[in-house]
Amino acid sequence: MTMKIAVLPGDGIGVEIMAEAVKVLDCLHSGFGLDIETEQGLVGGAGYDTHGKPLPDETLQLAKDADAVMLGAVGGYKWESLDIAVRPEKGLLGLRAELELFANLRPAILYPQLAGASTLKPEVVSGLDLMIVRELTGGIYFGQPRGVRIRDDGQREGFNTLVYSESEIERIGRVAFDIAMKRDRRLCSVDKANVLECTELWREVMESVAKDYPDVELSHMYVDNAAMQLVRAPKQFDVMVTTNMFGDILSDCAAMLTGSIGMLPSASLDANGKGMYEPIHGSAPDIAGQNKANPLATILSVAMMLRYTFDETDVAQRIENAVGAVLDKGIRTVDIWSEGMQEVGTTEMGDAVVAALREAK
Ligand code: IPM
Ligand code: MG
Repeated sequence: MTMKIAVLPGDGIGVEIMAEAVKVLDCLHSGFGLDIETEQGLVGGAGYDTHGKPLPDETLQLAKDADAVMLGAVGGYKWESLDIAVRPEKGLLGLRAELELFANLRPAILYPQLAGASTLKPEVVSGLDLMIVRELTGGIYFGQPRGVRIRDDGQREGFNTLVYSESEIERIGRVAFDIAMKRDRRLCSVDKANVLECTELWREVMESVAKDYPDVELSHMYVDNAAMQLVRAPKQFDVMVTTNMFGDILSDCAAMLTGSIGMLPSASLDANGKGMYEPIHGSAPDIAGQNKANPLATILSVAMMLRYTFDETDVAQRIENAVGAVLDKGIRTVDIWSEGMQEVGTTEMGDAVVAALREAK
């Protein structure tokens, strides 16, 4: 089967990290005989500069025609003063909405080699393996009405809408319960049901979905407590499921438990397993073009793509093992560097992973 992959590097370090992921894809093609076809497209600021829109029509078509999409990162200082409707972030949000990628899986796994790189004590994070399931196409990110309006008294006021239908809550709930079934069967649903009606409904629907999963232990937590628990005792969690915005915030927090935000991959899936795969970090304009960015989150996103869209579990595992082997050798980009380790740049890190993949063949 041909695997048609749309490659969208985006902006900032997106371009550099994606080049390393493409090296891995090339290696899978030439060394492992996978029938991979890639085509590149522009998105984010790069799309705006060339086509006047963060999600150019040809990029959307390319993504729709592909079996899976690899995305780098979008955004940068250069585009910050643009109207919100054409900002780079809208390219990413447009892809998520147009492809109906409602289920965002963000695993936070601590590689044992990086226990010392976390800002938390090694005993708090060692052995960490948690999965955040974030709703991705609804909630306050997409709710209408939204905007900035002038009030009768002449003041401007900004407004957004947090809205979830029962069916939206139920479908993300089912994804989370299904994942929990394959793991430790513990699911924590995160909401703000003490204040927000919308998430009171969220809680109720999660309870009703739970009836179909008697083997999964469902618990509920308010988002403020969840943020605290994530840094206090993160190993208490197996799978967390939450809304679009809470998931955005909690996943950055979870990322730091693993040593660096440069380590976390993600999968955004539709109802049929088609997916877009991207690191959870942003375009980091402050270090763009300096060969400093950590490409491992993007490379690990390639592994997620092989697992979730193409069912190539074995190859996915090999990529993850190759990353482990590179870390075993003490090779580190600056974000995960610690005393005694060898500091390398983005391209050297990508080369090291490809070499480890070849060696283990
Ligand atoms: C993420 C990012 C995006 C989000 C931005 C870039 C729109 O922070 O994927 O977590 O808020 O979803
Ligand atoms: Mg985010």
